[in-house]
Amino acid sequence: MIRVNSTSEKKLFIKSYGCQMNVYDADRMADILAPEGCILSDNVMDADIIILNTCHIREKATEKIYSELGRLAIQKAKREKVGKQTVLAVGGCVGQAEGSEIIRRAPYVDIVFGPQTYHRLPEMLKRANAGFEKVIETDFPIESKFDSFPEATIGKPYSAFITVQEGCDKFCTFCVVPYTRGSEYSRPAPQIVAEAQSLAKKGVREVTLLGQNVNNYHGYNKGCIEKGLGSLIENIAKIDGLSRIRYTTSYPADLNMELINAHRNVKELMPFLHLPLQSGSNSVLRAMNRRHNVEDYYRLVEKLRIARPDIALSSDFIVGFPGETDKDFEETLKVIKDINFVNAYSFKYSPRPGTPAATMDFQVPEQEKIERLERLQKLLGVQQIQFNQSCVGMVMPVLLEGEGRKAGQLVGRSPFMQPVNTIASKDFVGQIMNIKIDSAQKYSLRGQII
Ligand code: 5AD
Ligand code: SF4
Repeated sequence: MIRVNSTSEKKLFIKSYGCQMNVYDADRMADILAPEGCILSDNVMDADIIILNTCHIREKATEKIYSELGRLAIQKAKREKVGKQTVLAVGGCVGQAEGSEIIRRAPYVDIVFGPQTYHRLPEMLKRANAGFEKVIETDFPIESKFDSFPEATIGKPYSAFITVQEGCDKFCTFCVVPYTRGSEYSRPAPQIVAEAQSLAKKGVREVTLLGQNVNNYHGYNKGCIEKGLGSLIENIAKIDGLSRIRYTTSYPADLNMELINAHRNVKELMPFLHLPLQSGSNSVLRAMNRRHNVEDYYRLVEKLRIARPDIALSSDFIVGFPGETDKDFEETLKVIKDINFVNAYSFKYSPRPGTPAATMDFQVPEQEKIERLERLQKLLGVQQIQFNQSCVGMVMPVLLEGEGRKAGQLVGRSPFMQPVNTIASKDFVGQIMNIKIDSAQKYSLRGQII
């Protein structure tokens, strides 16, 4: 029988894997559990409740969870010997995808839940505490979890995430997201604006609007008129104290003129866009069921650069998708050279059970994937360094978020998402300061406040 604690205070440890939306979700879980007496702790050894907030996007991520659970099982047993109970919960996309399989493989897990049910955590904990059942909550409920959120109190103090849209109906043939996060849903605009206002009142200066398909946002405003992301950004930009807006992740085929114009008109919207291309080969893009081709992508980039000439572009690439030939791969390298991305994430294709690509013919041998990834990352690395070096001598507004790694240093983000280090007093934390960049590394810049 599980009895978490006789006193009302419980130590809660949450570990998040994967994307920024998981970070947002983890913070909301902590908010939801706070009224239950759960105090967030960063010490897993001492935790009464442990939540692994998981990612299912690639195979390694799932296996990592099972090995982490193995370690936690030992800790749970040790604590039990000294009379301390531990509730072990697996949430997020692995929870959604694996469901009861997790309990089968790891019987010491007490609760399994998905990304759409975590607002029910207080009740799940009560059921787990009763001790007679394993709790598995992986349905897609009719009620929206967003309606149950208390005011956001947990999160980064100056740069916060807000989920505005969730789920995906695109069904790219490699991707598990439509199965784990469910179909597309946009939050009502007034609910998002209220969350942004409340964050701004607490001192947040920058918000990043999150969604798996964020630029397909189509929430209702107060007058029950459907609005797109461009309009939502314009409304958020009016909030006092919020100086910076970002959004991620975008789907090229849904990038409309309203949003492109927001890049021209809204000064708070930062000149940085993560716009995953995945491949530079039209035949691979077709097999991926992406609804854009390479020519569409070039056209979008042109429009964006006309609207906001200094916009920096980032992307995602998958190498070794089934059927990808040397020629297809060379085409990807060509597009990368043409567009000149300031950074990008790149992955070896990882077959995910239940997705169409996993059973496609002509799977690419692992060695081939490794070699292609190496070449692609080398090229992206060169572009990243060149972009960073091109910033030397520039003066950039940097939102200083906290202390850097070295003594006396503060670190913040440039408009283009580069980490910027500067020697400055802690009094500047939370402020946007103009910094003259005097040196560049691959992953960061250094400069002085002017
Ligand atoms: N294999 C490799 N990479 C993948 N991604 C999504 N699914 C897979 C997969 N099965 C990558 C895509 C996506 C990013 C979040 O993860 O590039 O844009
Ligand atoms: Fe996955 Fe494609 Fe949806 Fe992005 S657009 S979440 S890659 S299915």
